[in-house]
Amino acid sequence: MPPVPANSAAGMGLAEAITHELAFLSEAHSGSTLERRLTICREALAAGRPGPLTAAELTWAGRIAWRNHARCIGRLYWRSLTVRDHRHLDTPEQLYGSLLEHLELAQGEGNVRSHLTVFAPAEHPGAPAPRIWNHQLCAYAGYRHADGTLLGDPKNIALTTRACELGWRQPSTPGPFDLLPWIIAGRDGRPQLFALPPGLVREVRLRHPSLPWFEGLGLRWYAVPVVSDMRLHAAGTDYPAAPFNGWYMGTEIGARNLADADRYNLLPRVAEMLGLDCRNPRSLWKDRALLELNAAVLHSYELEGVKLVDHHTASAEFMKFCALEKSAGREVSARWDWIVPPLSPATTPVFHTPMQERASTPDFLTQSAAY
Ligand code: ARG
Repeated sequence: MPPVPANSAAGMGLAEAITHELAFLSEAHSGSTLERRLTICREALAAGRPGPLTAAELTWAGRIAWRNHARCIGRLYWRSLTVRDHRHLDTPEQLYGSLLEHLELAQGEGNVRSHLTVFAPAEHPGAPAPRIWNHQLCAYAGYRHADGTLLGDPKNIALTTRACELGWRQPSTPGPFDLLPWIIAGRDGRPQLFALPPGLVREVRLRHPSLPWFEGLGLRWYAVPVVSDMRLHAAGTDYPAAPFNGWYMGTEIGARNLADADRYNLLPRVAEMLGLDCRNPRSLWKDRALLELNAAVLHSYELEGVKLVDHHTASAEFMKFCALEKSAGREVSARWDWIVPPLSPATTPVFHTPMQERASTPDFLTQSAAY
């Protein structure tokens, strides 16, 4: 008895679940071609094999997965996703070569372009498949010193430790922004470490449009977020190695990565430089520091010609996406707690919009950690 495809709505029988999983194909084909393709894919799924999608169908799957993804505010551009069909690649060396290309294509001289690369799935449900251990292709090491103090990005402490165990030589003087190597496993599950060629990852030095001292904080962030630890679920099949990227929204960096108390925790330092009273919450030192940090992110990416959207524009674009989806007769699945920007939320239209999350397929889904 083949397993019911993951992510299908509860209570469905196998045939119904398979029909649900393949419904997206009706956007790729019509008439007898659609019928033929449905028959072929249905048979494979019923036999527990991966959906035998053509490269063109995989492109549809990737774009619709983005369109369906409840946490993403940037979905207006779902049609522009470039999908790289690398399902024939399954060794760590092969993935490494392809990931280098992915990053270069995505960075595109600052004109960030959305890409998805799909690597080999398991041959049948439960069988091993390649995995990328990094949460994102670009990320900064996190260190916890013996005295409990932290350096770098605390989010990446565990991965940094694993990289060291696998032989990564951290810089002789560890710093707050040390780029991590990649850890990739093939079908045998054995992790291998891959160094990044120097200069591969584009980064932006953070400066403020009117506060000259800001540059002296020595802050930076990388140009492009490439999420590499989620699975693409499409046509009843999981693709555990399917890295994808969009471009940043400024608040991801300025209001979360650099500001969260369990990340870079920079609000106290920025507030102090601004001369604010950090003992009194009513001085709004956190709010003022947050604002200047975000102004610096927007300014610096613009200055260096790296595409990044502000949260007001992104919110307006999401509203447009919702309107277009409605006119196409589709319901938008969205998570309010992920869509609403963390800065000045009620000034954006998305704050005032009720949202509902629905199980959709294809989609990008979380998966249990590889390590
Ligand atoms: N929030 C994550 C980060 O700050 C990136 C997630 C993907 N973001 C995107 N704009 N596509 O690194």
